[in-house]
Amino acid sequence: MTENQLWKNRRYCAELTEKDYNQTVHCCGWIDTIRDHGQLLFMHLRDKSGVVQLVFDPEKDKDLHAQAEQLRNEYCVSISGTIVERVGEAKNDALPTGHLEIHVQSLSVYSSSKTPPFVLTEKSQVDDDSSEFKVDEDLRLKYRYLDLRRTSMQEKMIARYKIMKVIRDYLDEQGFIDVETPVLTKSTPEGARDYLVPSRHHDNTFYALPQSPQMFKQLLMVSGFDKYYQIVKCFRDEDLRPNRQPEFTQLDLEASFIDEAYIYNLLEPLVKKVFAVVGKEISAPFPHITYHDAMELYGNDHPDLRFDMKMVDVSEKLRNVNYKIFNSILASGGSIKGINVKGKASEMSKNMLQEELAKKVVPSFGGKGMSWMKMENGALNSNVVQFFSEDEQKALIESFNAEDGDVLLFIADSNKAVVNDVCGRLRLYVAEKWGFIDKNKIAPCWVTDFPMFELKDGRLSSMHHPFTQPDHAFSSASSTDDYLAVNSRAYDLVINGEEVGGGSIRIHDSEIQTKIFSVLGLSKTDIQEKFGFFVNALQFGTPPHGGLALGMDRLVAMATDSDSIREVIAFPKNRVAFCPLTQAPSHVSDEQLTELKLACIKEEVSITD
Ligand code: AMO
Repeated sequence: MTENQLWKNRRYCAELTEKDYNQTVHCCGWIDTIRDHGQLLFMHLRDKSGVVQLVFDPEKDKDLHAQAEQLRNEYCVSISGTIVERVGEAKNDALPTGHLEIHVQSLSVYSSSKTPPFVLTEKSQVDDDSSEFKVDEDLRLKYRYLDLRRTSMQEKMIARYKIMKVIRDYLDEQGFIDVETPVLTKSTPEGARDYLVPSRHHDNTFYALPQSPQMFKQLLMVSGFDKYYQIVKCFRDEDLRPNRQPEFTQLDLEASFIDEAYIYNLLEPLVKKVFAVVGKEISAPFPHITYHDAMELYGNDHPDLRFDMKMVDVSEKLRNVNYKIFNSILASGGSIKGINVKGKASEMSKNMLQEELAKKVVPSFGGKGMSWMKMENGALNSNVVQFFSEDEQKALIESFNAEDGDVLLFIADSNKAVVNDVCGRLRLYVAEKWGFIDKNKIAPCWVTDFPMFELKDGRLSSMHHPFTQPDHAFSSASSTDDYLAVNSRAYDLVINGEEVGGGSIRIHDSEIQTKIFSVLGLSKTDIQEKFGFFVNALQFGTPPHGGLALGMDRLVAMATDSDSIREVIAFPKNRVAFCPLTQAPSHVSDEQLTELKLACIKEEVSITD
């Protein structure tokens, strides 16, 4: 058989089954584990599907065995051999191909390999506990091409591809078309800093990389493409945080002559299909929660609904309480909220509640302290319970629906926003630590009725972006307080406590758009310079329209149970926005800088330091 014939007839390692017993097969891949059992030589051969066991027997072919003895990890080879059923204890139920092995008859070595910087064998593919994969992430990223060879990484990339395909197929069925928008463009406001690209042809001018295709997709609606989508790279130079990358992928879509319900009805089956790719089920319709309720009940606008433990406001019930701290906080206009940690009284010792939660955890969230009560023998019990009247204790028991074994935790502060934030964080901390989160559950929700504006550094700024349609209150608003009371037609898709997507019904009237920009503090000249082309376009018969963008990296990470979005991006940047593989960003030559007429800062600071 020629090499070419072998390649054409090759089978994937992990796809071999009992149907292939006694057949001759050809496989190509990389040498994974090697075990020398005296006479017999066992190896795993790995390709993108997984691994299969190879056996080299010197009694059958001495030369071939001698050739195999030269093999080392990660050599790239092809083999031909017979599939044989393993017997008795040799069977390995943990491996898809654990019931068979290939008795090799011929071997070609295409490339040797230097000893890899870390072992690529998956723990699940061997019975050896020492092989757990705990490799420094920067080392993995430096040798990402090897890291990606691991079966689990191949599976994640394949799942990512399948998810993208399912989305494309679905949107195609729904009448959407994919239109590409520019990468070298003008700044789009999405709340981050822009990555700038200097122009060589036009002195002192820069393109901006898009933070999103927002304005272009709206222009496509003006053009009459009534259903647009794109799976597109977006670039944001923002503060480094988990689950953020400087470049990331959005499923961006927009449609005309639609309302919010259209988006919900379009997206819910799409999200269901995405999770179905990895065999996970979600029930629809997704619940809706207003921004206000999310903040009041869960302490943030991206509530984790995999567990209940809602925050309860007990300020009114304790208005006349004798407990000094609570009393003075309420008198200063603050509030008191609590959560009921169901059935954990025996696991939460007094010492832990006071020394750990109240003195360490809550202060680390920005809270001043925490009070607690345990429900025991039908009554509340704690170091402060004597300061609460019988009626107040009864009211608390009722408010939290407290039963024996429950623990009530209270956060009080003169600033109500601090109470929400700290109590919300405490809720998540307690749920994670005491096992309230069902990790197999997928709990989506739509968060709606966002305020149109928020105050940032004392100035009005958009909570989503300036293209979001405000509600009717906007037309009569004139003061900062009026504007802060205006809601928008924005919606976020939240899954398991993470914002996966966001969008809105847009402004399609150029006058309202111009007014929004001026409320945001832009002068007429600014508006003309930054958004003139856009406001102008809105004057040419713009249809009512709206849309949304999903963060695909976050969605794929969630679907594949990955700890970070870096796990589902083939070549991500590390935690400090650096690429250990290519060493980007890097210095450029003086010639390039001169050509671009950019002043060169000569200070040599290593980026990796
Ligand atoms: P937004 O800014 O909410 O909306 O972005 C949409 C989704 O993109 C994801 N995302 C990110 N993922 C990884 N790294 C980042 N740095 C990052 N930033 C955002 C999030 C987010 O929910 N143009 C609007 C959409 C619209 O209105 O149609 C937009 O970009 O999952």
